[in-house]
Amino acid sequence: MTKTFINISQLVQVREQGTNILRGAMMADVPSIANAWLKVEDGTISDFGTMDTFQPEGGEEVIDLKGRMVTPTFVDSHTHLVFAEDRDEEYVMKIKGMDYQSIAEAGGGILNSARKLQRMSLEELTERAAVRLNEVIRSGTGAIEIKSGYGLTMEAEIKMLQVISRLSEIFTIPIKTTFLGAHAFPDRDQEKYMNTMIQEMLPEVYSQQLADYIDCFCEEGYYTVEQMDRILEAGEKFDLKGKVHVNQFNSIGGIEKAIEHGAVSVDHLEVLTDEEISLLKDSDTIPVALPGCSFFIRIPYTPGRKIIDNGLPLVIASDFNPGSAPSFNLSFANSLGCLKMGLQPEEAFNATTFNAAFALELESEVGSITKGKRANFIIAKAGKNLNSISYNFGVDWIDEVYISGDKF
Ligand code: NIG
Ligand code: FE
Repeated sequence: MTKTFINISQLVQVREQGTNILRGAMMADVPSIANAWLKVEDGTISDFGTMDTFQPEGGEEVIDLKGRMVTPTFVDSHTHLVFAEDRDEEYVMKIKGMDYQSIAEAGGGILNSARKLQRMSLEELTERAAVRLNEVIRSGTGAIEIKSGYGLTMEAEIKMLQVISRLSEIFTIPIKTTFLGAHAFPDRDQEKYMNTMIQEMLPEVYSQQLADYIDCFCEEGYYTVEQMDRILEAGEKFDLKGKVHVNQFNSIGGIEKAIEHGAVSVDHLEVLTDEEISLLKDSDTIPVALPGCSFFIRIPYTPGRKIIDNGLPLVIASDFNPGSAPSFNLSFANSLGCLKMGLQPEEAFNATTFNAAFALELESEVGSITKGKRANFIIAKAGKNLNSISYNFGVDWIDEVYISGDKF
């Protein structure tokens, strides 16, 4: 089945297959074709060009976009989309003045989500997560990572990962799964839980092939650098590369350790030293900012401007979760990238599309308009351009989302 979209005002983010991740000044450029056509065959981008080169073949479906912009869909490389319930009561505590850590100490936080998830069936969790994922795609996201980490028992962690596996059967967008047993400690006996994760959960995750990556919340009051070291090392034995939560509140050495383990990405980085920037620069580990979390729990933003000015690549993800970032909207993350992190609209867009695909090792499949990549793209409303994505904060600029060449 062939479809050709014609009269596209701007075909945005057109790149050659094999282009490397964008670093530093390269992030300010989003190559686009004005007045373009785009051809899709069997769910894949097969060709494109300027309207003066358009030759109807006969037999294909021709869709006239009448001067609207087309962009690739966003890639969300960090989410906690599977959970039982919202935690809006903690949000109210927060706006009354309590901080993230005191809410956790008062019975809220990750353990609150874990108690609720442990009680809910796999079917119910899948149904709720599927409703959310549907909305996520409607908001323009065409590839996603989803973590476990609200189970914190063998049974509940495996159940969460199985929910994600069911989502992959229901939805056609690429979904990468991360095992985050090390999100919090379920009780005081840390050593016992470390052993359960390493000796019981990991072998089971591996034998059911339930995860692509391993994560750990390395932070004061959560997992130490030494504990993360053991978790990443155990993950390697089961072919799981690291994608870790580090430097959200404190710099305790997690970045250096993650780099040593060849982690694919280090996520959060609200606190980031000059030494850590240099270490990242000399590594292949990708820095990921989560500005929705900074916005929601009112903590500093990851120094995205400084990261880019030092010649590094940058990725922005949503961190969608019920506690610290209850929004999956990557258009809003683009606004925060520009207005709170000092990025140009092009840089924020690259951070949520082309570069973000690398943080999931999906760069040959999604993230740009490229021959051979999946035909996952967004058709904008009339009159919208690349700036509109971040400029019209909280306003929907998206008219239609196409996944594998079909209207979603
Ligand atoms: O990425 N930082 C750790 N984990 C989540 C928050 C989870 C929660 O509060 O439920 C995060 O921000
Ligand atoms: Fe997170």
